[in-house]
Amino acid sequence: MRISVIGSGYVGLVTGGCLAAIGHQVVCTDSDESKIRTLNEGKLPIYELHLDAIIEKARRDGRIVFSSEVARAAHDGDAIFICVGTPPLETGDADLSAIDRCARLIASEAKSSKLVIEKSTVPVQTGQQLKRQLEVYGRTPGVKFTVASNPEFLREGTAVGDFLHPDRIVVGVDDAGAEKQLREIYAPILDQQFTCPVHDGKCPPAPKPPFVVTTINSAELIKHASNSFLAVKISYANAIAELCERIGANVQEVTRAMGMDPRIGSAFLNAGLGFGGFCLPKDIQAFIRLAEKAGVDFSMLKEAERLNKSRIDNFVEKMRRSLWVLKGKRIGALGLAFKAHTDDVRFSPAIDVVKRLLAEGAHVCAYDPEAMDRARFDGIAIEYAKEPAAVAKGADAVVILTEWPQFKQLDWKAMHDAMARPLLLDGRNLLDPAAMKAIGFEYHSIGRPD
Ligand code: UGA
Repeated sequence: MRISVIGSGYVGLVTGGCLAAIGHQVVCTDSDESKIRTLNEGKLPIYELHLDAIIEKARRDGRIVFSSEVARAAHDGDAIFICVGTPPLETGDADLSAIDRCARLIASEAKSSKLVIEKSTVPVQTGQQLKRQLEVYGRTPGVKFTVASNPEFLREGTAVGDFLHPDRIVVGVDDAGAEKQLREIYAPILDQQFTCPVHDGKCPPAPKPPFVVTTINSAELIKHASNSFLAVKISYANAIAELCERIGANVQEVTRAMGMDPRIGSAFLNAGLGFGGFCLPKDIQAFIRLAEKAGVDFSMLKEAERLNKSRIDNFVEKMRRSLWVLKGKRIGALGLAFKAHTDDVRFSPAIDVVKRLLAEGAHVCAYDPEAMDRARFDGIAIEYAKEPAAVAKGADAVVILTEWPQFKQLDWKAMHDAMARPLLLDGRNLLDPAAMKAIGFEYHSIGRPD
């Protein structure tokens, strides 16, 4: 099928690349000319595992093109995926102006009937508005627009695998034709019939993904409800961690045993610096606003958000307890990305910690395998290390802010010896406390006995 994608960010590129990989003809558009130039030079504007390989192959096979002429999306595709950003406004509401622009553009430019699919995370009832805009701005007689919601459940770092081997594909439709067209688009994934770039064609056996058909409103709600639930789960684990610190228990022992109950599950119970990234923090805010507007008391979400914000204060306080004065201290920071396996620093707890240290007058030397080019600290320059071990040189403390697995493999004895004072604060519970203590570190982590 001929498919257009509007918005070539994380979601748009993964969607476009994977749809091309399973056999569709894709045009990915974006109004940001520099992004499209980068893509047309054969490079990617983002780092995402496997994405470079699938896009390169799709390009060689003639299945994907990139264009900064967004109107082309409305001309070329039978189905148009809207993957533009919906960032938070000051109020916490999602800014839907980019979706509105897409609707107006598609309505005025399309010369044949289109299936318009919202993939960006949007508040419930956006689909109804989208339908209305397409109708009122439509100018070509006989051109019909059908709207569907098809929320993405992609995690940065594993997005290609998540797209090709999803837990579920949710489609919100109010038209049988739209359901049929979406089934056709996803057929190779539903049947797991494609050459998988993640597993080199040898995927481990797994059940075929369910195709969940709902109303458009329900599909929109499923996405926000899922992300907010994950956020609540993380805040719950972090509250348990605080309790463990006060009363002398180990959060990893507690959550491990909790997670063995299949009704609870072990995922998303890792205590640490809290949830960040461009999805969970903004989605929980938008969901809070949605509930408020609908007159529903969902204060549980506000509490989860408040607990999350307090993670940074708690961590900086922990540093202050060990270092006494932060001003003038040299701190080695390992990690800047909001989680491992991504270069994304948006709403990154690691960046928040570094900003706080800089504000207090500490000198920070940081290392991140992927995110150093993207990190910004309110205009304050920091020192970057060329390799992770270099952050330890002369440091009064080393802090672990992102759980990159390679930090585990560092020569921690050599790190210890290079520091001015062997103080290690592990904001991600990445290392083994006993092993670090045996080396001679003063070691503090989250919710585990010092
Ligand atoms: C999240 C959801 O997991 C995806 O299902 C969803 O599609 C995506 O948002 C989206 O809305 O597009 P992502 O933002 O890539 O995906 O990141 P997560 O893996 O969910 O991690 C979010 C944050 O929670 C990170 O800062 C991570 O470090 C933190 N986290 C995660 C914890 O602190 N503890 C955990 O146990 C798990």
